[in-house]
Amino acid sequence: MSGQIDLLHAPQRFGSFAELEAALLNLTGDPLEAEGGRIVIYRGNPAARLMIVGEAPGAEEDRLGQPFVGKSGKLLDAILQSVGFDPAADIFVTNSAFRRPHDNRKPTTEEIEWYRPWLMEIIRVIDPVIILLTGAVALQSVLDERRGITKVRGDWFALDGRKVMPIFHPAYLLRNPSSAEGSPKRLMWGDVQEVRRVFDALD
Ligand code: URA
Repeated sequence: MSGQIDLLHAPQRFGSFAELEAALLNLTGDPLEAEGGRIVIYRGNPAARLMIVGEAPGAEEDRLGQPFVGKSGKLLDAILQSVGFDPAADIFVTNSAFRRPHDNRKPTTEEIEWYRPWLMEIIRVIDPVIILLTGAVALQSVLDERRGITKVRGDWFALDGRKVMPIFHPAYLLRNPSSAEGSPKRLMWGDVQEVRRVFDALD
C-alpha cells in the first residue's frame, strides 16, 4: 500500500465497533470537515460477513446520516437482494471518505489517504470475510489499485486473509442502463452471482 499514513491522524486500535464509531462521530480536523458535511459511517449489520465500501456520502446520505441511501443505494440494495442478501442483516455498508465532498466531487487522493486508516480500522474491527469495492475510489483506498474498474471488476483480491472484489459503482449502472449482453449491468449481475457462490461456500 503506497501513500504515507499520517500517524498524527491514524486511529488507535479500538476494542469494539461502538468505541470506534464514537471516535469517528467526534472526528475533527479531517480534510472534508470544512465542506460542512456531517460524519456518515455505516448502515447494515456490524456482525455481517459481507462488507461494501463505496466512495463518499452524497446529499441524501449527509441528510440521513447513512451511506448509500439515495438512488445509488436503492439500486445497490436491489442488486444484492436479487441474489438473496438482506441488506439489513447480511451486509455492512461504509465508504472510503466519511463526509460529503462539496458538490459531490470525487475525493482527492490526499483525502482518500487521510481517511484510509479509519476505513482500515473499520475493516479490522468488523472483520468481514468478503469485501466488495464499489468503484474506483474504494479500489484506490482499499487496494491502492489504479487500474480502471473495468479492468479488475469481478476479480478476487486478497487483503489480510479476506476476499476482496471490485465491482461497478451503482451510479455508473444508473448512467448505463442497458442490460444487453456485455453491458455493465450484465457484468454486475455475473459478479454478484459469483459473490453469492463464494459466500455460500464459506464455513
Ligand atoms: N455513493 C457512494 O459511493 N457512497 C454513498 O454513500 C452514496 C453514494
